[in-house]
Amino acid sequence: MGTILKTNDLTKKYGNKVVVDNLNLEIQEGEVFGLLGPNGAGKSTTMNMITGIVNPTLGNVEFEGKDFKKNRKSLIDKLGYIPQELAIHGNLKAWENVELFTSLYGIKGAELKERINESLEYVGLLERRNDFAKTFSGGMKRRLNIACAIGHHPDLLIFDEPTVGIDPQSRNFILDKIKESNKNGSTVIYTSHYMEEVEAICTRIAIMDNGKIIATGTSEELKKMVKDDISTITLEEVFLNMTGKKLRDL
Ligand SMILES: Nc1ncnc2c1ncn2[C@@H]1O[C@H](COP(=O)(O)OP(=O)(O)OP(=O)(O)O)[C@@H](O)[C@H]1O
Ligand SMILES: [Mg+2]
Repeated sequence: MGTILKTNDLTKKYGNKVVVDNLNLEIQEGEVFGLLGPNGAGKSTTMNMITGIVNPTLGNVEFEGKDFKKNRKSLIDKLGYIPQELAIHGNLKAWENVELFTSLYGIKGAELKERINESLEYVGLLERRNDFAKTFSGGMKRRLNIACAIGHHPDLLIFDEPTVGIDPQSRNFILDKIKESNKNGSTVIYTSHYMEEVEAICTRIAIMDNGKIIATGTSEELKKMVKDDISTITLEEVFLNMTGKKLRDL
């Protein structure tokens, strides 16, 4: 399995502040790669640069070995982005939201209808297809946000904190779906500040703080960097040890 995505010295400055600092990430085909970091670490800015929404100050992104920016047209439909800020429209019905996003990729007619139903079914919202998104609960909105990003069958799925502020049932549903997508062949990038989630679904984890990647490895490898007996240490403690900070306020 090869590298699907690579960032080369990816950097973002806002004014004098460096919010993403010289990131060199390499994501392998078939993995669930976790980006773990506290609020303000630079996770969303990184994802927005990877997907081309935010322009890097320096550096570039390679997707399947090609410069993403220069080959955006041919590569964009290989990517599915579930943004942290909900992208759905409250005054559109569930199916119209999925139609809006899926049709952007040139999918039309009977195939489009099929993809809409398939995406809604995937997130458990097929029966609510005719309801306006504004009538949905927080968890249902998050699920619809996912349905909007998968209708074009992307190879790489990028989830930016898809479980923030939702009930445990919806959270588990989303985590199970991410694992299922990965089993079915999608590569996944997953950002979160919940270490339990990252530990549960990610095959490899990068710890990010202050715009920098501090360490990368499997959960076990990261723990070994801090302590020999890994059974007595959590990722939370690894983070505290490496940064001197708590991952989140408990
Ligand atoms: N458009 C912008 N203009 C100025 N500063 C910005 C902008 N977008 C992000 N920042 C700053 O960049 C830093 C990183 O923000 P970012 O949203 O990438 O963090 P994050 O890791 O996703 O945090 P969270 O867990 O809260 O979502 C923050 O200090 C933020 O204030
Ligand atoms: Mg964010």
